[in-house]
Amino acid sequence: VTPRTIFSGIQPTGIPHLGNYLGALSNWVKLQNENPQDKLIFSIVGWHALTLPQNPKELSASRRDMLAALLAIGIDPKRSIVFHQDSNAMHTELAWILSCITPTGKLRRMTSWKTRLAESRNANDESEVDESLLNAGLLTYPVLQAADILLYQATHVPVGEDQRQHLELSRDIADSFNRTFKGSSRMFPLPTALITPAKRILSLKDPSSKMSKSAVDPASRILLTDSAAQITAKVRAAVTDSIASGVTYDPAARPGTSNLLAILAACADEDVEQVAERCAGMSHGELKAEVASAIDILVARPRAEFHRIRADPGFLDQVARDGATAAREVSTRVMVQVRARIGL
Ligand code: ADP
Ligand code: NA
Repeated sequence: VTPRTIFSGIQPTGIPHLGNYLGALSNWVKLQNENPQDKLIFSIVGWHALTLPQNPKELSASRRDMLAALLAIGIDPKRSIVFHQDSNAMHTELAWILSCITPTGKLRRMTSWKTRLAESRNANDESEVDESLLNAGLLTYPVLQAADILLYQATHVPVGEDQRQHLELSRDIADSFNRTFKGSSRMFPLPTALITPAKRILSLKDPSSKMSKSAVDPASRILLTDSAAQITAKVRAAVTDSIASGVTYDPAARPGTSNLLAILAACADEDVEQVAERCAGMSHGELKAEVASAIDILVARPRAEFHRIRADPGFLDQVARDGATAAREVSTRVMVQVRARIGL
């Protein structure tokens, strides 16, 4: 196997919830532990968070929480480079260079931008978009994302289906740079998406939407640090249905019940149909007890690790410093070449 350079990022959103863990972060740990030849680079992308309003105090705490959480779930700084994006200014330098070879039309075609535009349409006049509500970062952050990846000459990027378009843009930008600034060898590999198997966890309170940190009701999500009692209480209060007494997997007709089965399957790394079969004779109460117990078993170690690590700020600072040094070492070599090619 050819060694790969794998890059992935996550925003400093604080303690991850079960959706973040099952849908994205657990896959990072899997990748790290699977192929000893792969180079892995995991970044907490603070600059991306600034595209939305942030409370500075909360952002600072969330940034530390996310680093502690990555270590707690098993990201090993001896094996992977784990660092804060905002501790390596070369991300913004490369983003600027790449933005100057990226047509604005391409950025305006991003689904993420179109969604923002739609949200800012005048309620009375649909044709009127108030762009004064949209900061420039919302338009250009896909270029920063490309810089995050290309700065380390990453070859593979684990992403969800929703990020496919952004990765496609990163490939386009890499290709465009390679053609515009030819050298003795190709500057940037075209990064390949490693599409994470879809494990979409839904809100416990509103199973028509995904589990999210931004939902108002904190009981709609389970955090990696929730105690056994908190997990039990949240799962017990989860919305199900009274369509049938037993348990069946039917996401369309029984989204709440099916979500619990999906969580159970994901926690045990089992097939959901198989889990549904095993649980068919259960009441909702019995299913919920089973789900709460499976979640507790899954998070027990990360939870304990998180508390241990978060109580040791010196250790956390050291990991952040070492990660930044390692990241800058790789990107310095790349930027020396980039600058030479563009003539600066
Ligand atoms: P949130 O929706 O809580 O704001 P983010 O948008 O910050 O979460 O997502 C961070 C990562 O976690 C992304 O890779 C995203 O795909 C994944 N993720 C977020 N919510 C879920 C969910 N409910 N189920 C599965 N994966 C999720
Ligand atoms: Na979100």
